[in-house]
Amino acid sequence: MNIVLLGAPGAGKGTQAQKLVADYGVAHISTGDLLRAAVKAQSKLGKEAKGYMDAGQLVPDQLVIDLVKERLEEDDAKKGFILDGFPRNTDQAVALDGELEAMGVNLDAALLVDVASEVIISRLSSRRTCKDCGYTAPAGVDTCPRCGGEVYQRDDDKPETIARRLDTYKNQTEPLVEYYGGHGILKTVDGDRPVDEVYADVKTLLGL
Ligand code: AP5
Repeated sequence: MNIVLLGAPGAGKGTQAQKLVADYGVAHISTGDLLRAAVKAQSKLGKEAKGYMDAGQLVPDQLVIDLVKERLEEDDAKKGFILDGFPRNTDQAVALDGELEAMGVNLDAALLVDVASEVIISRLSSRRTCKDCGYTAPAGVDTCPRCGGEVYQRDDDKPETIARRLDTYKNQTEPLVEYYGGHGILKTVDGDRPVDEVYADVKTLLGL
């Protein structure tokens, strides 16, 4: 299983990826998680990325492309991978195609988790994220259901930043729906239903 997850911020990409990883043991490559880990570690990359993330903008392409290339070369990605939050624009998609071709690997599907903007705003305003493992959960959860760690509200889950992230998605990421449609690998799931119903359809669409 080598797939790309597409969808607006808060559509449920991470939630569906967590379930696929638990059931099928593939690598979950979330550029958002990788960047947040770099920010937490105060690495050079983290310091450079933080301003863009807090502003709801994309981190410069080359930084993210290098991060993904390195991650795809790790052993666990050989069993299959879910790219969550990458690619985010056409230049990143073209870079990914080149990297996968060089690795002799095919992309099986680009799965769009489709959710209306009104639903997104309320989901993101109430989302809680684990400080330790990055697990995402709805409001009302005090500790992480996966590792027991402390949960917090992400800096970019504030209303004004959510609006900017949605604009960034519309202008830069949504064109990838057409890109992957043109490659004949686009699949779309209605993400505005209970998590397990969405997941059942995801598995059917991916032939699992
Ligand atoms: P990133 O972390 O990728 O954020 P995002 O794309 O905005 O996606 P989210 O993690 O916010 O949402 P999600 O779709 O995973 O939803 P989730 O499952 O958590 O990126 C953050 C920033 O990093 C970017 O703004 C950018 O600056 C930078 N960045 C990252 N990648 C980059 C790249 N490639 N290039 C450049 N910059 C990059 O669900 C949301 C909430 O809804 C949760 O509370 C969840 O419990 C709940 N939920 C999920 N599904 C359902 C459901 N079916 N019903 C009800 N509630 C649900």
